[in-house]
Amino acid sequence: MSAHSDSQRATAPAIRARKGGEPLVCLTAYDTPTARLLDPHCDLILVGDSVGMVLHGLDSTVGVTLEMMILHGRAVMRGSSRALVAVDMPFGSYEAGPPEAFANASRIMKETGCQAVKIESGAYAAAIIAFLTARGVPVIGHVGVRPQAVHAQGGVRARGRTLDEREIVLADARAADEAGAFALVIEAVAEDLAREVTAAVSCPTIGIGASAACDGQILVTHDMLGLFDWTPRFVRRYADLRAAMGEAVAAYAQDVRARRFPGEGEVYKLKRT
Ligand code: KIV
Repeated sequence: MSAHSDSQRATAPAIRARKGGEPLVCLTAYDTPTARLLDPHCDLILVGDSVGMVLHGLDSTVGVTLEMMILHGRAVMRGSSRALVAVDMPFGSYEAGPPEAFANASRIMKETGCQAVKIESGAYAAAIIAFLTARGVPVIGHVGVRPQAVHAQGGVRARGRTLDEREIVLADARAADEAGAFALVIEAVAEDLAREVTAAVSCPTIGIGASAACDGQILVTHDMLGLFDWTPRFVRRYADLRAAMGEAVAAYAQDVRARRFPGEGEVYKLKRT
């Protein structure tokens, strides 16, 4: 069962209903042409705050702002009509408490037209998720590696390999689920922990580096298209666009320098009236 028909955009309840069913297909997008390419194939498009690193050259997602997320969210909405679009709430836009989180989430929804937001879900998050969902904001939780907590977590290494960490990830996941999250991203955790979390929560889990035990998968599109020279071990590269782009740019530069571009068919001629 698909989360959407051809004419209708996928909804949060339809995504939630996919628990234990056909795996959810999810990818990131930050712009209109990429969203157009992804939309026919994806159940969910995430406007991830990974945009800060992927497009803006930041070292982490910590510097991403609400304005950046809204700008990219609007672009993705313009390029999609079928997939559910969720926009990441950036660091500092929700952690202070429910009313501030609601003000910022409702701004994201009004100004982009997206259907949901995602928040990284540490222990503080349950009250925020409950507050938002009760007020009409569908929320996706995010446990395991939480890139916004890079400084607190001491880096972005895989989680759940020690007993203490396992308990934290499980507790965060249960809390987000009970608070009403309609889906849960699990990032970079050991396979058996991903399986345990998936069995423990009522909403579908969407894994990134969290094994096939999850109810769906998400990757950063730029990673799976091979646009970087380095990708995490859990990424499968479906294309090598970095090499293809490099070759194309080099060929263009050679053609311009050799006056081979533009050619006969690539110039305007005077119209004979
Ligand atoms: O920001 C992001 O891209 C994410 C990942 C889950 C894909 O949160």
